[in-house]
Amino acid sequence: MRFLGLLFLVSILPAAELPRIWDDEALKDWATPIAALGVRPGHYSAAEYYAIPGDNLKTYPVYHPNHEPKGYWDWLQKQKPQPLVDAAKIRSARDWATAGERAFEDLDNLLFRTADPKLIARARDPEAFKNAYLLPDGSIIGNRWVVTEQGVMLSERECSLCHVHFDPNGKVHFGGPAGVEPAGPTDRNPAGVDLVPLAYTRFFPGDTFLQALWRSYTVPWNPDPRVEALKEKLTHPPGALFVGDPGTFARFHGSPWAQTKVPDLRVIRYSRYIDATATHRMRGAEDLARYAAFVNGADPMTFGPHEILTPEQRQIRVRYADEVLYAIGVYLMSLDAPRNPNPAPKSLRDAGQKIFQREGCVTCHTPPNYTSGKLTLAQGFKPPADHPYAEDIVHLTVATDPELALRTRKGTGFYKIPTLRGVWTRTRLLHDASVASLEEMFDPARLKPDHVPGGWKGPAGDRRGIPGHPFGLSLTAEEKRSLLAFLRSL
Ligand code: HEC
Ligand code: HEC
Repeated sequence: MRFLGLLFLVSILPAAELPRIWDDEALKDWATPIAALGVRPGHYSAAEYYAIPGDNLKTYPVYHPNHEPKGYWDWLQKQKPQPLVDAAKIRSARDWATAGERAFEDLDNLLFRTADPKLIARARDPEAFKNAYLLPDGSIIGNRWVVTEQGVMLSERECSLCHVHFDPNGKVHFGGPAGVEPAGPTDRNPAGVDLVPLAYTRFFPGDTFLQALWRSYTVPWNPDPRVEALKEKLTHPPGALFVGDPGTFARFHGSPWAQTKVPDLRVIRYSRYIDATATHRMRGAEDLARYAAFVNGADPMTFGPHEILTPEQRQIRVRYADEVLYAIGVYLMSLDAPRNPNPAPKSLRDAGQKIFQREGCVTCHTPPNYTSGKLTLAQGFKPPADHPYAEDIVHLTVATDPELALRTRKGTGFYKIPTLRGVWTRTRLLHDASVASLEEMFDPARLKPDHVPGGWKGPAGDRRGIPGHPFGLSLTAEEKRSLLAFLRSL
């Protein structure tokens, strides 16, 4: 018995142990060199990172005032701060994943927290909830309450604010691909109270909102006049600059003119790199944990000799506890694409599979993962022979819009080959979400300059061709039908 008990312990211990997330050794070769500079972006040392305390606080739903359960507000005032992830209760990898699901869905952005009585009152006023998308319990996607030592604060969801998928029945799946589901709900305004401007000026202390916006995207070694103009005046509504389409967001280091698709995190396990341009390696749960920290302030924004932030802004000011980050990493690694419950008839899928092979799709979207995990070159990029990822580089370009991969601070020079698993759930395709369906993707008309992209069009909503990825563009109608049937079964 004792022996069996010991075996049991040995089998669960390694997975239950909490690794140190911000680890100097692991960070050394984590970020990908910027193509134009040939250097990896800088990062905080573990000593700098751990010099501030880690946050680990449970958050609570903000309900549409007409749906708030009776007595909820008073009950909330009486709660004591609780950990979002309680590491003491975790015994196995499964426990980490379960805790991680809660953390991924409920995590709030530390820079959004506010005790401002005016904002709190607004979050309880039905006026602020017009067109808000309601979850089945009557709560909203945007704001969350956080019980802190200083009392109840208003905040906003972090990961799940963007990583939210609506299926055709209008059901919400956090972590799934963002975008517009034709048959889904049309009103999906996430937030009751918009805390973004507040968070921006906190993230970039000393900056006006416009300066903060400019700083998010400016590229000192290759300035884009459209980004530089933002310092002086808002050239487009903030909505179009951040979220030009329900499926995109212009993250720090990207650009409002080269937005990125909010991708399906349920298939991240098939990636060897993170982000469309492979900005970081993806070696497992710990790298995903690091990435969650990175997008939340663990980022000094230094690129060789170029510093984006002022000395005051370059100090790390917030971080999540390691157990919160690791739980999220383990959870994301545990996910997989859902199977299509209504696949096309087998004969059609089989015919499609043959076309998939015949057209050479398999060389890049290689089964069984439907990606080789490798990196293609953005049009115009020649990587040095001694590039650290030389083994993973396919010396081919699919010639999609090279702007993100060459001109932004996400500019590694690469586009990773995405997995096609679960592609049937995506309503936005390509790194910039410009394509809205598989039909559009394999329609040669999308190449023409007068095409109106079904997905992201650019901040000005322009007509433009969607270049590149020329594969499968000259199929007959029948061949296309079978190829799509096959793709929708993956
Ligand atoms: C403001 C919107 C937003 C928030 C908040 C957000 N993400 Fe993302 N996320 C994105 C976008 C957009 C991308 C694509 C970036 C790119 O390709 O360069 C992305 C990419 C990713 C990727 C890479 C996926 C892939 O296929 O390479 C991971 C992993 C990820 N996010 C995890 C998280 C986690 C964990 C959180 C919470 C800590 C989070 N994100 C918060 C918008 C967001
Ligand atoms: C040379 C490698 C290569 C070949 C061959 C190739 N692809 Fe791709 N595919 C890519 C890359 C790289 C992307 C992402 C490009 C981007 O985002 O800019 C992509 C994107 C896609 C997407 C969009 C996925 C998404 O979520 O954005 C689909 C669908 C797709 N490919 C299907 C196919 C099919 C079907 C074939 C064959 C007819 C094929 N591909 C051939 C490399 C390839």
